[in-house]
Amino acid sequence: MKILLLGRNGQVGWELQRSLSVLGELTALDRHGPTHCGDLSRLDGLRNTVRALRPDLIVNAAAHTAVDKAESEPELAHTLNALAPGVLADEAACLGALLVHYSTDYVFDGSGERPWTETDGTGPLSVYGRSKLAGEQAIQASGCHHLILRTSWVYGARGGNFAKTMLRLAAERERLTVIADQFGAPTSAELLADVTAHAARTTLSQPTLSGTYHCCAAGETTWNGYARFVLAHAQASGRPLKAGPDQVDQVPTSGFPTPARRPHNSRLDCGKLQSTFGLRLPAWQQGVARMLDEIL
Ligand SMILES: NC(=O)c1ccc[n+]([C@@H]2O[C@H](COP(=O)([O-])OP(=O)(O)OC[C@H]3O[C@@H](n4cnc5c(N)ncnc54)[C@H](OP(=O)(O)O)[C@@H]3O)[C@@H](O)[C@H]2O)c1
Repeated sequence: MKILLLGRNGQVGWELQRSLSVLGELTALDRHGPTHCGDLSRLDGLRNTVRALRPDLIVNAAAHTAVDKAESEPELAHTLNALAPGVLADEAACLGALLVHYSTDYVFDGSGERPWTETDGTGPLSVYGRSKLAGEQAIQASGCHHLILRTSWVYGARGGNFAKTMLRLAAERERLTVIADQFGAPTSAELLADVTAHAARTTLSQPTLSGTYHCCAAGETTWNGYARFVLAHAQASGRPLKAGPDQVDQVPTSGFPTPARRPHNSRLDCGKLQSTFGLRLPAWQQGVARMLDEIL
């Protein structure tokens, strides 16, 4: 089986290089090529790449993920997050290939307290959210076999992440102030990559499973609860910090104005994914603790 991965150096893309490698012959591209175009802003180049490689499975981990920056460059966000997935989907439909694509809790308006299901109405609050929703719609309209995995609060051990920022600030300051009215589940890129491999393999043999699925770690917290967990784990591991979990003050979202509005309720109900593919999503604390053990 031939697999094409786009966005190989992103958080999820990096882990997909590992998890997809056992499924077949993997061609992993970033935006710089070199042999084939992996740049989502060059739609013709992207189309030619799929036509040249003729993959059985396309996994798109590339995206415009800078949520605040997207507010000032909506056309680029639309090209990368909506038009490019549409091209991949059209080509997948022609080839009979399966397309796996990632979307986000930001397609919802963040109201209420109930975890969102796949059938709930969407209502994105930001340019990023609207562009990701348009990408979902382009894939669905293409008629290709697809898995759209909506996830939330993704982190990886590689590169910068929220936990590393909290550890740095807690080493410098006596107190931290962290948002306490956005609810979601921190989800590791490792988990997403592993679920992707399982779900893609199953869907390749049962294309009727094609569709949209929510995929995040189990349980819920706030950014404030996430920060407290990180600092408690770091202290228990012997890391010297000026601020511990009890020195993390709560602040509402309105206390940290940003160009893009963020949803308060990012909870995702992952029941459909778990029952369809026979998977069990672990508690968010498990992945965060593992990542901390790697970086501390
Ligand atoms: N991060 C989250 O909290 C989160 C939450 C929900 C959903 N998601 C979705 O999950 C997926 C993976 O996200 P992630 O966290 O792995 O994102 P990420 O770490 O920001 O990776 C995104 C990748 O896209 C690449 N990229 C940007 N512009 C490109 C272009 N023009 N052509 C080709 N590649 C381009 C980036 O390349 P460079 O390294 O060269 O910039 C980067 O490697 C995305 O679809 C995202 O929307 C993420």
